[in-house]
Amino acid sequence: MRLSELAGKINPSPTLSLSARARRMKSEGKDVIALSAGELDFPPPREVIDAAKRALDSGDIRYTAASGMPALKQAVCDRYRRKYNLAISLENVVISSGAKHSLANVLLALLNPGDEVIIPVPYWVSYPEMVKLAGGKPVFVRTSPEDRFKLTVEMLENAATEKTRVLMLNSPNNPTGTVYTRDEIEAIYRFARERGIVVLADEIYEDLVFSGGFFSFAQIGGEIFENVVIVSGVSKTYAMTGWRIGWAVGHPELIAAVGRIQAHQTSNPCTVSQYASIAALNECDYFPKMVVEQIRRRRQIALDMLRKIPGFKPIEPDGAFYIFCDVSGALGERFASSTELAGYILENALVAAVPGEAFGMPGFLRISIAASEEQIKEALARIKSVLS
Ligand SMILES: Cc1ncc(COP(=O)(O)O)c(C=O)c1O
Repeated sequence: MRLSELAGKINPSPTLSLSARARRMKSEGKDVIALSAGELDFPPPREVIDAAKRALDSGDIRYTAASGMPALKQAVCDRYRRKYNLAISLENVVISSGAKHSLANVLLALLNPGDEVIIPVPYWVSYPEMVKLAGGKPVFVRTSPEDRFKLTVEMLENAATEKTRVLMLNSPNNPTGTVYTRDEIEAIYRFARERGIVVLADEIYEDLVFSGGFFSFAQIGGEIFENVVIVSGVSKTYAMTGWRIGWAVGHPELIAAVGRIQAHQTSNPCTVSQYASIAALNECDYFPKMVVEQIRRRRQIALDMLRKIPGFKPIEPDGAFYIFCDVSGALGERFASSTELAGYILENALVAAVPGEAFGMPGFLRISIAASEEQIKEALARIKSVLS
């Protein structure tokens, strides 16, 4: 079959394919522990399930507006006011089928062919592919563990050109767990404003921060929308990965364009999930607090165990639910790359972890701590045993 040039340029998602491989091994009866996926092992809050059941029983689950139900948009507005003291209205909000969908459609609404998009490395696996799908050109800027993987204005000065249209910034960060401070966010915002660049702020892990606090672009104020669009959703905060609800909050013209794109692409996000998300946003502020307590404990257990594995140097995360671990000390004669190491660990320890290559940073492994404490302990003990 002859495919388009575009289809040929798009790589598979390494994290999804690794999770699929782990699932396949499991279905063959192997006792695989997946520390590869970005999803919590908790069920969503009770209120979410009840709201979904009520929606199903009501039978009122037809198409909604392609850009989402007004009641859900209102719940998003209320949340931004409550959390960040930001006054926004319905025309600032579009609801999509997951935050990934919002990110992809915002890029479609902003980019012309050849426009450049700055992507700090390491990056979330889908960013470069989404940019290519929208006709843009990813421009990678490497950060380093010594600087806690933070992008600075100086790095931006060096990377920005006349063609730079968007900067993709993810805080709290997947895969590193880095959380940008107020000063850092404000400096990046000032730079973007001066240079006419749009910051696509991916704040999907905004509620999962265990040290130092989180500063949202929303806290700068409503004037940001000339140069900032914020994306988030219910997937991580409320353990609702499969429900596929995310949103973008931004300038009304951009938001309307994203709505038009969705209208011809997917139509509305799942109606049942929209009802469930209203309950999550309006009734479940308690839930992420409980999640953070659990993740904080798992993080400590994982850090302690990882530090005892020869050649492993975990970087302490401040947010999200991953540990990005420098494994360069374990490479060399036995394993040529972190991909080889991850393959060996999967085959021999039956543990799936994502190699740094997937995030543009070889020499690292991303360990998800969204799995249960028992699974984390067992998985890391197995890794230590096959590598010792
Ligand atoms: C940084 C980042 N952004 C966006 C997403 C996508 O979230 P959703 O499942 O709501 O599409 C993820 C999920 O792994 C993520 O890690």
